[in-house]
Amino acid sequence: MMKNLIKALACAFMVVLYACNTTTQKPEGQTNTPSVPDSLDKKWWKEAVVYQIYPRSFQDSDGDGIGDLKGIISRLDYVKSLGVDMVWLSPIYSSPNKDNGYDISDYQNIMKEFGTMSDFDMMLKGFKERNVKVFMDMVVNHCSSEHPWFKSACSSRNSPYYNYFHWWPAEKGKPPYRWSIFDEKAYAWEYNKPTNSYYLHYFADAQPDLNWENPALRQEIYKMMRFWLDKGVDGFRLDAIAFCSKDTTLPPLPKEYDGNWGMYYASGPHLHDYMQEMNREVFSKKEIATVAEAMGDVERVMKFVDPARKELNMAYYFEAIDFGYLPKEYKMPDPKGYDFVKWKQIYAKWTDAFAKKGWGTIYLANHDQPRMLTRWGNDSPEFRDMSSKMLTTFIMSMRGTPYYYFGDEIGMSNIKFDKVEDYNDIELLTNYAQVKAKGGDLKRFLNGMKISSRDNGRTPMQWDSTFQAGFSTGSKTWLKVNPNYISVNVQAQDKDPNSILNYFRKIVQLRKSEPILIYGDWKLVDEKNPSVFAYTRSLNGRTLLALMNFKATEAKVNTTGLDLNKAKVRIGNYATPSVNGILKPYEAVILEL
Ligand code: GLC
Repeated sequence: MMKNLIKALACAFMVVLYACNTTTQKPEGQTNTPSVPDSLDKKWWKEAVVYQIYPRSFQDSDGDGIGDLKGIISRLDYVKSLGVDMVWLSPIYSSPNKDNGYDISDYQNIMKEFGTMSDFDMMLKGFKERNVKVFMDMVVNHCSSEHPWFKSACSSRNSPYYNYFHWWPAEKGKPPYRWSIFDEKAYAWEYNKPTNSYYLHYFADAQPDLNWENPALRQEIYKMMRFWLDKGVDGFRLDAIAFCSKDTTLPPLPKEYDGNWGMYYASGPHLHDYMQEMNREVFSKKEIATVAEAMGDVERVMKFVDPARKELNMAYYFEAIDFGYLPKEYKMPDPKGYDFVKWKQIYAKWTDAFAKKGWGTIYLANHDQPRMLTRWGNDSPEFRDMSSKMLTTFIMSMRGTPYYYFGDEIGMSNIKFDKVEDYNDIELLTNYAQVKAKGGDLKRFLNGMKISSRDNGRTPMQWDSTFQAGFSTGSKTWLKVNPNYISVNVQAQDKDPNSILNYFRKIVQLRKSEPILIYGDWKLVDEKNPSVFAYTRSLNGRTLLALMNFKATEAKVNTTGLDLNKAKVRIGNYATPSVNGILKPYEAVILEL
């Protein structure tokens, strides 16, 4: 009897052991991060550090002053040296560049200035050989007015492509007013004579909105996405995707419309049907990374990433990045600065929401933003170094996949153009024209744009202190090189162990080796502190405390309830990091408690 019991127990033990062993074989898409329970739903794209390349500004290989794919190929080893896992490529498809590639005229071809499809294939192969994944920007809410679909649609109402777009037949009179973001008249309808109808464009008139109600259009998009996946790309960023479904009656804007474009225009009635269809038709075939450029509040954004809904796997939101601008004025920074405590609360709200469901992203800059150093740190010579490292510490220690923008790893800052002629961006030029048309204060406008304009984040990469910062051999680059390249450049920082660049490399490794920073719980500490962003990350009984002083003066954190006595420094931006909660200007430190 006893013998049988022991036998049965031994058997059960073996079964458990076997089961434990088999669970170490992960299904595709799961990962092998050490000591993380499976209940955390591990995925490679949660563990990845994403590095965004804006190809126009990364490296020019042929001297025309515009970055290109061969240029990226020549910098593959540099990207690898950063330790990042995935590159997000801003659009490289054929485009007349009214919005720098976010107006696509051929989704399966490469923009002439950037090179050829074989350059793309070589670049992709190069990244793959280095174990770096590649993630494409998919602009499918709209295309370019140069796209053959649109050209055909404009020729006749009988064109098979007419219904690929949204039209308002002129016999119904003028369409009800709709706002457009990149239109000088701020008007989203444009008249087309041959069809005697108006087409809809939420962005520039050169960016007609695609009609997602039409199943034939949707199938074209899915086919095109499969084309890129078949090439071996690892995912997509879905640009402006929340706008793709519309109320096709295109009614007048409601009386209560308050200019909150994202809330009124986005999230049309079939948006999530389309996302689910796209998932079934394209994304479900492979464990890829997908991220929505989502608009709106937590409830809306969550719909994209709630795993039960089977749509996308990550989303980024705007509430924190758009904070601190004056109401009703486009990206005009509030001269009084921003309320830091409220800003932290925004992050807390979103991070807590993603802890319950879905997965978020963390970013402080991208091609639609100014440089993070100028906007959220301090670009003065005294604090450039420390505040860059501090912001990097924030991005790398938050919960959510970090999206890091090229050039921030060396502390590039806003160029702050004085003259409108120096700008290229359709967004800025549109807004400038509008202020001018209204007789507004252009000087004030240009001053504000020194902080917030997108072109600040698009100036060429600063590789070294030679001509054009090593970006191009051409005498003219598409946007001017920031004159600070003489001291702020990759070459100088590569050899300096204490540089911003080497700090970035170090913290990327820390994040990758430390599952707490990826999967750990997140909890705000000293919420009301007006200078310091402080939070804990904890997992499996271990706790890290991240402290970041966002101000140029010393600051003290209230760490009541936390025991700092045995705190061990995991990383810090000062040579002697603080272990007592009193932080030097722009100090950042991660402590293990
Ligand atoms: C997205 C892009 C932005 C572009 C716009 C229109 O917001 O990130 O760069 O201008 O969509 O495509």
